[in-house]
Amino acid sequence: MSDQKRVLSCIQPTGNLHLGNYFGAVKNWVDLQSSYQCFYGIVDYHAMTMPYNTKKLRNQSWDLIVDLVSVGIKPENLFVQSLIPEHAELGWIFNCFASVGRVSNMTQYKDKSQTVSEKAKDTFISVGLFDYPVLQAADILIYKADFVPVGDDQDQHLELTREIADRFNFNVGKDYFVLPKTLHTKTPRIKSPADPERKMSKSAGEKHVIGVFAEEARIRKQIKSAVTDVGIQTDGQMSLGVENLFELMRAAGSEDFDGLMSDYEAGTLKYSALKDATADTLVKLTTGFIEKKAEILENKKELKYKIKQSSAEIRKVAQETLLEVKDLVGLMNVKF
Ligand code: TRP
Repeated sequence: MSDQKRVLSCIQPTGNLHLGNYFGAVKNWVDLQSSYQCFYGIVDYHAMTMPYNTKKLRNQSWDLIVDLVSVGIKPENLFVQSLIPEHAELGWIFNCFASVGRVSNMTQYKDKSQTVSEKAKDTFISVGLFDYPVLQAADILIYKADFVPVGDDQDQHLELTREIADRFNFNVGKDYFVLPKTLHTKTPRIKSPADPERKMSKSAGEKHVIGVFAEEARIRKQIKSAVTDVGIQTDGQMSLGVENLFELMRAAGSEDFDGLMSDYEAGTLKYSALKDATADTLVKLTTGFIEKKAEILENKKELKYKIKQSSAEIRKVAQETLLEVKDLVGLMNVKF
C-alpha cells in the first residue's frame, strides 16, 4: 500500500449527477485523486434507509458509477458498499460503541424522519435511518481514512465518527483508529436556476437541476429562463439569481468571467449576455462529459467488471481492519 494519506468519501445512489453535486463535491473528488490514496464508495446500504424501490436500486448504483467515471473518477478508486459486507459488520460492532443519546441528536435523522412522515401514507421510519450515521462511521474508519471531503451538512456525522473511534480506542486500551478529519474545501454552492433561493437539488423537481449530461438545447433553455430578479439583496447587491450564474461560470472555469464581472460592476452588463456566456460554458463542459459517457456505455460490461475487481481489492483493506477489530473486542477472528 502506498504511504500517501487516505481520503474517503461516499455518495448515495439516488438519481443522476447534476451540476450541484458535480461542482459541490465530485469535481473535488476528481482533483484529490492526484495527491491522495482515494476510496470513493457508492453507499447502497445507506440508500435503503429511506423508502425506496427494490427493483431500481441496483440499476441506480450502476448508473451513478457510469456518471462518476465519465466525469473523471478512476474506476480503481471506486467501490460498492454492498460488495464489501464488512461495512455492515463493523457497523454492528460500532452500534455497541455508539450512544443512543448522541445518535438521536443527529439533525439529518430528524430532518429525514420528518420528510418520511410528511410523504408516506403509513409513516414508516426505519431503524436503519436512525442507525445511518453509525454505518457511516464504519465506512470511514474501516479504511482508516485521514480525510473525509464532505459538505458541512455532514459535520455532525464526522464528529460522531470521531466519538465512536475514541470510545472504541478507550475501551480496547489502544489508539487503534485514526481520528479522521473533515476536509472542507471551498466548493461552490450551486442554486436552482428556477429558484435561486434554494440549492440545486432533485427533490425539488426536474426544473431545479441541470444534469451533468444534459443536452445542449435543454441547458440553453434552462439558462435562458433562469430567474435573475429573485433574491435581490439589500441596496445595490447582486441578486441571488445573477450570483448563481456567475458562480456557475466561475466553477466551470469560464474565461469570460472577469470581463462580465467588470461589466456588472460598471453597471453595463446585459443579463442576456451573461446568460449566453453561462450557457456556452456549461455546454462546453457537458459536451465533453457526454462524449466520455457514450464511450463508456459502449463497453459497460468492461466497466462493471472493473468495479467488481476494484471492490474486491478494496475489500481486502476492509477485511484486514475487521479481523484486527474482532480480535481487539474479543470476538472470534478466524480467517477462513
Ligand atoms: N451521509 C453522506 C451524505 O448524505 C453519505 C455517506 C455515507 C458518506 N457514508 C459516508 C459520506 C462516508 C462520507 C463518508 O452525503
